[in-house]
Amino acid sequence: MTPPPDLSTLEAAAAFVRQRWPEVSAPRAVICGSGWSSVLEDLEVTDRISFADIPGFGAPGVVGHTGALCLAKAEDHPVLVFQGRRHFYEGVGWTPIAIPIYLCLKFGVSDLLLTNSAGAIHPDFSPGDLMLITDHINWMGENPLVGPHQPLWGPRFPDQSNVYHPKAREQLKQASRQSQVALREGVYLATRGPVYETPAEVRACRSAGADAVGMSTVPEAMLASAAGLRVGGLSCMTNFAAGILDQPLTHDEVTTTANKAMPRMKALLRAWCALPTG
Ligand code: HPA
Repeated sequence: MTPPPDLSTLEAAAAFVRQRWPEVSAPRAVICGSGWSSVLEDLEVTDRISFADIPGFGAPGVVGHTGALCLAKAEDHPVLVFQGRRHFYEGVGWTPIAIPIYLCLKFGVSDLLLTNSAGAIHPDFSPGDLMLITDHINWMGENPLVGPHQPLWGPRFPDQSNVYHPKAREQLKQASRQSQVALREGVYLATRGPVYETPAEVRACRSAGADAVGMSTVPEAMLASAAGLRVGGLSCMTNFAAGILDQPLTHDEVTTTANKAMPRMKALLRAWCALPTG
């Protein structure tokens, strides 16, 4: 079993950021998954801290994940933007995955948006589609809440009926209407990675009820919702999941498709940032 997030490291990370940003409080935060980091180009960035400088965090080891915590302004509202994320498949445990959630808790965030790139499984979905995550399936084989009960992360047995908060889902739909960016809706399934799935696994994901598959987001959603944050989730379909087309999957395909979808991702994010929080 992977040990749970280490609280003293989380505290050291928060103390470091607090020292750099003594006055900061932001109601919204976004964690940018593969291909999403450029959404920041549309926001006014006031400061930036490299993940590598934050104790216990470390730089993400994935192309397309910048690895910076940015303090930004959208329509005059402050927003914390994590450009990139750490993944469970990096083999560094849960602490770096929990740090952004802990920082959200310490910096006044109420609404957290998790984004990722994913393989499309639903037969109507195509690369470039954006999907509102309505629910998830954890096929990582582990979860970050295993271990002694830590009240920071809510009750011992957190309810999972609405991990993606109804209000967050409604706001993302409102942002979609206002920006005229179409949103699919569906269930995201997370594997441990770092391998893409086999065609047989994709068929199993489909029978299990998944519409999209990826290697992230689910642990953060579990921690953040258990800790009382309103969690929203968006996936960019960057490819057909394995076996749908007769061609191999590559990370290049993932980043190229996400870049093509970028104008829509930016418009959606801008509209979301302009909505009221609380
Ligand atoms: N599978 C898993 N993770 C992914 C995929 C995929 O097809 N595309 C982008 N991230």
